[in-house]
Amino acid sequence: MNYSAQVMEHFSNPRNVGELPGANAVGESGNAKCGDIMKMYLKIENGVIQDASFKTFGCGAAIATSSMATELIKGKTIEEALKVSNSAVVEALGGLPESKIHCSVLAEKAVKAAIANYKGN
Ligand code: FES
Repeated sequence: MNYSAQVMEHFSNPRNVGELPGANAVGESGNAKCGDIMKMYLKIENGVIQDASFKTFGCGAAIATSSMATELIKGKTIEEALKVSNSAVVEALGGLPESKIHCSVLAEKAVKAAIANYKGN
């Protein structure tokens, strides 16, 4: 399987790993088929994502997409972050093999779940 240099870089050196002290939103997503789980922590102030982190029990592509997703949403308003699709994450990573696209969906879903948690639903 061929991974882009960006995927390998984010897999080997993931950004924003671990629980986030002071997080006021947490979201989780999982894929029943592969059993991988992703947890996203956000610190939101005045509608803006000040900080984000993740914990992923999953494959290398899931780790790379979680890492990239946290980087992409930091500094964005929650409305902007809701528009960060899995394809935007894949594009920022220079692409993913077709069989690994579902891993990026986990990242999008985890961000959305965390924002829903923040909004209280
Ligand atoms: Fe399950 Fe990648 S194989 S998230």
